Parts: sequence; structure tokens; C-alpha cells
Amino acid sequence: MSRKKEIFWSLYTLTEKEIRRFMRIWIQTLVPPAVTMSLYFVIFGSLIGPRIGEMDGFDYVQFMIPGLIMMSVITNSYANVVSSFYSVKFQKSILNWYHKDGRKNLPWQQNISAYSVWISEIMLQQTQVVTVIPYYERFMSSFPTVRDLAEATQDVVMEHWAGLGYYSRARNLHQTAKMIISEFQGIFPNEIDDLIKLPGIGRTTAGAIKSLAFNQRGTILDGNVKRVLSRYHKIEGWSGSSKTNKALWFYADKHTPNTHVREYTQAIMDIGATVCKKNNPCCTCLLYTSDAADE
Ligand code: ADE
Repeated sequence: MSRKKEIFWSLYTLTEKEIRRFMRIWIQTLVPPAVTMSLYFVIFGSLIGPRIGEMDGFDYVQFMIPGLIMMSVITNSYANVVSSFYSVKFQKSILNWYHKDGRKNLPWQQNISAYSVWISEIMLQQTQVVTVIPYYERFMSSFPTVRDLAEATQDVVMEHWAGLGYYSRARNLHQTAKMIISEFQGIFPNEIDDLIKLPGIGRTTAGAIKSLAFNQRGTILDGNVKRVLSRYHKIEGWSGSSKTNKALWFYADKHTPNTHVREYTQAIMDIGATVCKKNNPCCTCLLYTSDAADE
């Protein structure tokens, strides 16, 4: 089979590991309600069976309602299984794209640490990669560790930020470095709850640090990822509204894989930034087809 066909089929077929995973989910979700329901019908069937001729409509309804509730539990489990199947497809397309076209040579992707990821993520807020690179390199050579940053004066930190804009980012960065030294003994926290307490670190930056630095499951939803998900799931409405935002976080979390989370996170951000641009509405076609890997 040619490489092109191989990649194409890899998106539509499940590996042995995935089949085993789905079987496990099926068993875990379906067996308990199925057993309960069978017991229910056996016990109640044998109780009411002999009296069936004497029963009126209301008796039947009373008997059927718990059964219907159980059926809906089963249907719901089934829907969860199917939707997790689609998330695996989505993750596969994203990861295939990453292996082929994702950015792997950005300065903050070399010698990865929580500190370097954090600095880069803060710089990359509202600022393009090309603009950030020289600032990042200069910053890291002046403050190679969180302690160096914490011990620097605010004037020196601000000097390194001059021209990058949104200066509160630099002030927060400096304050956070001091807190990491004083409250976390210089060790960067890897729990979302600890990260979001630090100045300048919101839910998405915390997710980015967790996934990109620690390679642990962490969900991100920056502007680029919002665009990818809203197009993929055809979510309309302003992404700042709480309803839309809630739906986007739901999908962002649902699709985040347990493994390869670093690559997945980098890839979905890159697809948003480089492919799924504002004026390219069919950008997510690549997530439905094998184009992610073929083009
Ligand atoms: N935008 C935000 N974070 C990014 C990252 N790690 N790489 C590229 N663009 C980004």
C-alpha cells in the first residue's frame, strides 16, 4: 500500500490498541446497566407474571417506567462511547497533521521546561510567533531561570519587554517568578489549581503549561483553538458569550487526549494559527479527511 493510502486508511481504521480501549469502555459502561435491567425484568416479571391477566394499564406503566429509565442510561452510555470514538478520530487527524506539518523547531520547543514554556506562552498572548522569537531569546539569555527573573529589578524586566506591548504581562511575569520562589520553593507547580492562582496565568495558559511543559493532560482554548473548534463543530455565536464559551471548553476538554498531549496541544494551536485562518473557512476540512497528512 502506498504511503498516501496508508495514511488515508490510518484515519478510518482503528488500531488493535484502540479496539481494545473501546471494548473496555463498552464493557465498563454497558455491563452494569444491562445486568441491573435484566435482574429487574426477571424479578418483577416473575412477580407480576402470574397476575398479568388481572393488571390494568396503570400497572403496566408503573412496571415500565423504571425499565425505560434504565434504557435511557444505556443509550446515554452508548452515546458517550460513540462520541469518544469521534474524539479519537479528531485527535488522530490533529496528530497526523503535526507529524507532517507541525512546528517543531521553535526556540521554546528546545530544552523544554515549565519556565521556558511559561515565558513563551505569556509572550505569545496577542503576539505573533515571528515577533516573539527575538524577545524570547534575549529574555532567556538574561534570565535563564525563574530565580534569575525573580531577583532582577522590575526596570530591567521591563526593559526586556520594551516594544512587545501589553506591559502588564511583564509585571505579572515578574511577580509570578517571585511567588514561585517564595511559595513553591522555586519549583514550578504542575496542578491547574495552583497555576491559575499565579498572576497572569489563566485557565488556557495553565492548560498550555501542563500539556506543553509537563506532557500531562491539560486543556487549552486560546483564540486560534476557538476558531478551529467552532468551525469543526459548527458553533455559531460570539465566542466571548458565556454559552458559546462553555460549549467550546466542553469540546476542547473532550478532545484533549491522555497521551501525546504535548504534540496535540502544539498542533491544534498551530492549525489555528497557520491553516485555520479567518478567511479560510474550509480549514477544518483537513480534520474530516486525510488531507491533514496528505497535502
Ligand atoms: N501561540 C500560543 N502558544 C503557542 C505556541 N506554543 N506555539 C505557537 N504559537 C502559540
